[in-house]
Amino acid sequence: MRSVITGTGIGVPPHVVTNAALSKLMDTSDEWIRVRSGIQERRYAEPGQGSSQLGVLAAGNAIADAGLTPSDIDAVIFATMTPDHVLPGNGPLLQKALGLRDIPTFDIRQQCSGFLYGLELADLFIQSGRYRRVLLVGAEVHTAFMPWHLGWDTLIGQSMREITEAERIENTASRDRTVLFGDGAGAVVIEGRDGDAGLGPIRLHTDGTGAGVLTMLGASFKRRPFVTHEQIDAGETLPIMSGKEVFRSAVTLMPQVVREVCELSGVAVDALDLVLVHQANLRIIEGVQKALGLSADRVPHNVERWGNTTAATLPILFHECRQQGLIKPGMNLMFTALGSGLHWGAALYRT
Ligand code: ACO
Repeated sequence: MRSVITGTGIGVPPHVVTNAALSKLMDTSDEWIRVRSGIQERRYAEPGQGSSQLGVLAAGNAIADAGLTPSDIDAVIFATMTPDHVLPGNGPLLQKALGLRDIPTFDIRQQCSGFLYGLELADLFIQSGRYRRVLLVGAEVHTAFMPWHLGWDTLIGQSMREITEAERIENTASRDRTVLFGDGAGAVVIEGRDGDAGLGPIRLHTDGTGAGVLTMLGASFKRRPFVTHEQIDAGETLPIMSGKEVFRSAVTLMPQVVREVCELSGVAVDALDLVLVHQANLRIIEGVQKALGLSADRVPHNVERWGNTTAATLPILFHECRQQGLIKPGMNLMFTALGSGLHWGAALYRT
């Protein structure tokens, strides 16, 4: 028996924010963002709209797509680094909102690799016979990290006021990160099925020596109290990132782990029909594609429209590839991701 993705869905917020709109708030430009990241626009959630709600939208769509009802789901895995609350996790919130039965819900992190880690768990649950139908959700609302109280109203078209010089300076201080991220959710239903189609080998890695490369110092339970006004004023509730190191790790380690999974499964790299790479940055995606020696059409991307949605990028991309008819029966598809942790990995999926 194999673990098969039988339904997919996405849940995205309504506000489309272009690079030009961001340029009104800080010193940046459409050209800088496009050239460095490939991103043209992203979606932002409303204040008050959490990642659990986007996850509920995505999950409802995935369950319907699988031809199931919420009461058919046996377990939930919810991957997010931006949960609605520190406690409880998004799992129980989604269970209540969707009207799921009294089933276990697992909240996992692993940031950009959250979906891959969730695939591993779902596969183990199904292969062990413990749960038959697993709902895996990746959802993020990154905008809460950002200093958008300084111009949020202008950004989403609710005000025509000019940004003050002080607001512009503060917004510009985090421009190397804020322009890269968007909000959104993707979900898949995974079921056990006989036959050749389904998840193949998965390989996951962690290197905690790279924990400081992409991290958030604020809101830490090592502090007393865990968050203070001073930390907020110092910008410590925003992730810090060594962009160049993340870039280097991503273009080296993702091709490496893809090759590792190819070896484990006996599938040659050039026999991969599609490689779905975590959508952080178009230059990283192209770097992975070139390192694997694959043609561009085999490495699809949508980072242009969504930005980096962390745990949601892979399920959103998989859903869109299905919708566009790119995924046909009998294909060898590879998922790969790398992110904060460092966590990275790859999973083979036969369609
Ligand atoms: N607009 C305009 N200028 C900017 C912006 C911006 N939004 N952000 C930074 N700059 C400026 C910098 O201040 C710097 O100016 P200076 O030369 O006067 O000091 C200049 O642009 C160049 O900055 P670099 O950091 O050298 O730019 P680089 O070419 O390295 O690109 C980037 C930065 C896009 C962050 C790149 O390093 C990258 O893509 N890294 C990967 C990060 C990533 O994808 N993280 C996502 C999370 S992890 C993951 O999902 C894999």
